[in-house]
Amino acid sequence: MLPNTDFTATQSYKYLADHYIDIVSKNLKELFDADAERFEKFSLQFEEILVDYSKNRIDDETLALLIQLARECGLDDAITAMFSGQPINVTEGRPVLHIALRNRSNTPILVEGKDVMPDVNRVLAQMETFSHAIINGEWKGYTGKPITDVVNIGIGGSDLGPVMVTEALKAYKNHLNLHFVSNVDATHIVETLKTVNAETTLFLIASKTFTTQETMGNAHSARDWFIASGGKDEDVAKHFAALSTNSEGVAKFGIDTKNMFEFWDWVGGRYSLWSAIGLSISLSIGFDNFIELLDGAHAMDNHFKTAPLEENIPAILALVGIWYNNFFEAETQAILPYDQYMHRFAAYFQQGDMESNGKHVDRTGKHVDYSTGPIIWGEPGTNGQHAFYQLIHQGTKLIPCDFIAPAQSHNPLGEHHKMLLSNFFAQTEALMNGKTEEVVIDELKKAGKSEEEISKIAPFKVFEGNRPTNSILVKLITPRALGSLIAMYEHKIFVQGIIWNIYSFDQWGVELGKQLAGKILPELKGDEEISSHDSSTNGLINQYKAWR
Ligand code: F6P
Repeated sequence: MLPNTDFTATQSYKYLADHYIDIVSKNLKELFDADAERFEKFSLQFEEILVDYSKNRIDDETLALLIQLARECGLDDAITAMFSGQPINVTEGRPVLHIALRNRSNTPILVEGKDVMPDVNRVLAQMETFSHAIINGEWKGYTGKPITDVVNIGIGGSDLGPVMVTEALKAYKNHLNLHFVSNVDATHIVETLKTVNAETTLFLIASKTFTTQETMGNAHSARDWFIASGGKDEDVAKHFAALSTNSEGVAKFGIDTKNMFEFWDWVGGRYSLWSAIGLSISLSIGFDNFIELLDGAHAMDNHFKTAPLEENIPAILALVGIWYNNFFEAETQAILPYDQYMHRFAAYFQQGDMESNGKHVDRTGKHVDYSTGPIIWGEPGTNGQHAFYQLIHQGTKLIPCDFIAPAQSHNPLGEHHKMLLSNFFAQTEALMNGKTEEVVIDELKKAGKSEEEISKIAPFKVFEGNRPTNSILVKLITPRALGSLIAMYEHKIFVQGIIWNIYSFDQWGVELGKQLAGKILPELKGDEEISSHDSSTNGLINQYKAWR
């Protein structure tokens, strides 16, 4: 089981607190000047992914102490506990085995004494056969035409992963048109259905529980539309498939369980793209590429499981994150991919990280007195540069940033990729070095400004610098590289949860809003005035009723 340590009570935490006072007064630039080996020392390569964490406010001692912290918090045992299928998701009484879904070496992984791998491989084989039949056009719709459009209906982990990956790997896409409907706002399904033909559309109802309000609402509307468009009840089997753990719910909805792609309760929703939930990915880029994605993740799993902490990329990224979160009191973490295809990457890890580590109770049930999961956000570069980078460069908040870029583009058009990468390299350099007052004054002098103009304008042009970044340079965003990258972030989240002594694999925090929405829904139906809530909620509901 998981160790249970208050990390703020460890010896390494105390040393780190003292060491912080030393480091906080140091400038990154000075750290580079003082150590010619800094890049070699603080960068790691995994296959065709280079992780440069040298532009962080750390030195040898910081890293050594952070690693000691991980050891004191029992990280090694925690890794073993996860990989060996122990029920580490204690509040839901389940193991956490997304690693089994991509266990390409097929070594047995036991849950309650039973190897899960035969089931994993059975569903993969089912996905393979189905993907080939749809892609090759052997699977026909109810009028005998091949499928042209696939609509994945799901939300949260049953949407964000497939959306992110199909977008990130669009360069590998085949002829099928992929659509994703998640929001319960009817606009989402209505606008999507306007673009497809019932005769040639396949709906994937993606829901681990098969009870989620949004997904069930959209699935029923899709089914109604299918029937209204000419499909018969008996045709539903050709146009609806379910990706779920709940076979009863699937049968009740009217989907033939032969068209059900199963997964298991030991797969967390936000870690489920590797499971049957990834069927839309396999349909979009082909099953072989889907396997490449799993292979890449499996390779990262092996690295995470076996590399010493000093060379363990997910562990180091996690520990550096803790350094900022708990010592520098940074509240957020930006993820900035310089790759348009990866435009949903930050959104994906918003759920991945914030639903996992947004917890205020530790593993003993006690309210923590330290900060846990950061706020994750980000947009692709270079767009972000023209939007929010101002605050990262000159604002008052410390925002550690992960910059991610491919060395090669899938679209090598003219000078575009060089322009993109010149920005990628320039930003981390600028954030680190800043621009001193002397340089600003010198530039203004050279531009012919008067002393008076210079003294007025100079302060606004100064960049303090010393702003930390990781640079993650990937040779090319292939399915394999993307799989490794996603697994890297997943394990980073895991490590942080271990250090913070929280449960990273439940999500009770989304329940309360769901419960209240369930109570309010019937109140919205009649005409009577509502008075069962606080005056604000009553006032809003009653105004809605007056305006609807
Ligand atoms: O928002 C809560 C949540 O349970 C997520 O964890 C999950 O990914 C999402 O809802 C969808 O759940 P399901 O796949 O069961 O429909």
